[in-house]
Amino acid sequence: MAFKYFLLFSFFFYFLFVLLEAKPLNVSYDHRAILIDGKRQLLLSGCIHYPRSTPSMWPELFRRSKEAGLNVIQTYVFWNVHERERGHYDFETDFARLPQFLTFAQEAGLYVTLRIGPYVCAEWDFGGFPEWLKEIPGIVFRDYNEPFMNEMARWMKYLVNFLQPYFASNGGPIILAQVENEYKFLEPDFGSNGTKYAQWASQVIFIIFQKISLV
Ligand SMILES: *[C@@H]1O[C@H](CO)[C@@H](O)[C@H](O)[C@H]1NC(C)=O
Ligand SMILES: *[C@@H]1O[C@H](CO)[C@@H](O)[C@H](O)[C@H]1NC(C)=O
Repeated sequence: MAFKYFLLFSFFFYFLFVLLEAKPLNVSYDHRAILIDGKRQLLLSGCIHYPRSTPSMWPELFRRSKEAGLNVIQTYVFWNVHERERGHYDFETDFARLPQFLTFAQEAGLYVTLRIGPYVCAEWDFGGFPEWLKEIPGIVFRDYNEPFMNEMARWMKYLVNFLQPYFASNGGPIILAQVENEYKFLEPDFGSNGTKYAQWASQVIFIIFQKISLV
């Protein structure tokens, strides 16, 4: 009998704990700063690329980051780690365990900034693009063309949907996401299409986030 109540209480506290853990945050900004739950925050961010270390190393890396005074971890998302074969998504293999990475970060008391690419500038193979992408007829990477934009939108949509529980508005650690990467340097090379692509990228990501009520 007592054991039964003990179990009940355990479950109760477990759920209470989970509920407290999953407290949604209101991330916004004013003219001076990022606001988290209405308070201006000084964000000190350090970069850890999850595929460059193993999951068993992550808790210690986060502990040390925290000890060094950081409150945010920033990482790219590496498309060619997660979709090595078109339409087959991997978040399970050790170097692809992004959800685990995010969970450990949160457990260490750190926020996360996610740079969802699709291009990553991290001395990473093929800028993070999957190999198969270059075989798509007519594709020009990071420019205003349908073959590229279709693939990019498809991947972004999958990724953002998949990571829904990890966004701060849903109680996760991700406070910010960034699409593309230092595109301003590249934009003039593509002429007016460069500008069109940059605008499209920000719009498409806004729509994806809006559809799943993350903005
Ligand atoms: C989030 O915080 C901002 C700034 O404090 C505030 O204006 C806004 O109403 C808040 N949103 C929600 C949904 O509470
Ligand atoms: C801009 O993009 C369109 C659509 O992909 C293409 O037809 C056109 O040739 C491009 N213009 C330039 C200047 O590259």
